Amino acid sequence: MMPTTKILLDESHIPTHWYNVIADMPNPPAPYLGPDGKPITPDMMTNIFAPDLVAQEMSTERWIPIPQEVRDIYHLWRPSPLYRAHRLEAALGTPAKIYYKYEGVSPAGSHKPNSAVAQAYYNKIAGIKRLSTETGAGQWGSALSLAGSMFGLEVRVYMVKVSYQQKPFRRSMMETWGAEVLASPTTLTQSGRQALAKDPECPGSLGIAISEAVEEAASRKDTNYTLGSVLNHVLLHQTIIGQETRKQLELVGDYPDVVFAPCGGGSNVGGIMFPFLADKAAGKQIRLVPVEPTSCPTLTRGHYAYDYGDSVGLTPLMLMYTLGHDFVPPSIHAGGLRYHGDSALVSQLCKEGILEAMAVPQLATFKAGILFAKAEGIVPAPESNHAIQAVIDEALLCKTTGEPKTILFTLSGHGHFDMVAYDKYLNGELTDQDYPEADLQAALHNLPKVEGVATRN
Ligand SMILES: Cc1ncc(COP(=O)(O)O)c(C=O)c1O
Repeated sequence: MMPTTKILLDESHIPTHWYNVIADMPNPPAPYLGPDGKPITPDMMTNIFAPDLVAQEMSTERWIPIPQEVRDIYHLWRPSPLYRAHRLEAALGTPAKIYYKYEGVSPAGSHKPNSAVAQAYYNKIAGIKRLSTETGAGQWGSALSLAGSMFGLEVRVYMVKVSYQQKPFRRSMMETWGAEVLASPTTLTQSGRQALAKDPECPGSLGIAISEAVEEAASRKDTNYTLGSVLNHVLLHQTIIGQETRKQLELVGDYPDVVFAPCGGGSNVGGIMFPFLADKAAGKQIRLVPVEPTSCPTLTRGHYAYDYGDSVGLTPLMLMYTLGHDFVPPSIHAGGLRYHGDSALVSQLCKEGILEAMAVPQLATFKAGILFAKAEGIVPAPESNHAIQAVIDEALLCKTTGEPKTILFTLSGHGHFDMVAYDKYLNGELTDQDYPEADLQAALHNLPKVEGVATRN
């Protein structure tokens, strides 16, 4: 008999709490700093964020209850399936067992609605009418547009220009849910005009789009800002992924030796990996590996330093791995991974050796994604292909050593709106782009100076 392929939980298993990894980290996270170099206070964040989200951002409680209104919406796609990749295993001829947690079943097509719904809810109950945000791949913008429509909030999305051009139907999807979508940089904000003055052909970046969205929220009382990754509360919301996965693996009596996830700002990494962290601290042998692009190698080659989360310097300073807030990454097709920084929590855990990041080049990721699609059927998002590339390498290593390891990864989204990228790959039009050492050194000079904190690699 064919062993189980989809390991499913019924809706009664939708998690009731989010898991806050800060409660179990060996060292407390470094505080965010304001322009004066002093730790910021909650009231400095509430001018653009809902108070409940600010409280979550700073919370040290291990478990935070998920409001019923949010869980009600989670019922639309959660619990998401965990797949055993029998066909991929056979195609590779590996003794490894490969599992993937598929987040592409959400209405927007990725893990992003897990946080978007929560963020829209807390803004709604705070009396906010409009939300501004940025989007790279279009996945986060779609997720927030969906969540905004469910809670009756207006949504304006600053979409990185290169993605806006590559993915016109992501824009249509957001508009279908009632959002307004602008190609960033725009001329509507000071931040956008500044980027265009520097380079009229600027392809945009997540950093610039964040500046535009933050600037808008800061200038309007009825509008708050929302972010799809990086911040503690976003990673917190995503921990339902790992909680469900643990239960699903228990059902089949398995436990991962290694977990891979694509990493842009760290939200699906936090989502799948944080719920396994306490086990690792208790001595369990488990490797947790965020995977990023070689052209935007934040965790693997960036500086560990205080830096801004946006290009212009409107956000608080965060201690994280960074390529410099003014870095505009090459226009690779994994738009969601084109970010100069990373979550402070993921960065600190990498710095402390608890997570071990790796980087993979673009062409190899598409080759891996196509091999996966042929074996498993699902066409993955280009971001997810980064994890798949790492999984395939690990599974092939197992083939050489004969080890039957258990490999788990997040298939963070489907690639149905990314077919232009696949098309280009299939037509031989994509290239690999490296991140030059000179740029790394140049970035160092533009990092904000923070007294008493050494910038180190
Ligand atoms: C499908 C998909 N996977 C991964 C990512 C990376 O984001 P994060 O690192 O926050 O999970 C994105 C970002 O847009 C995405 O759309």
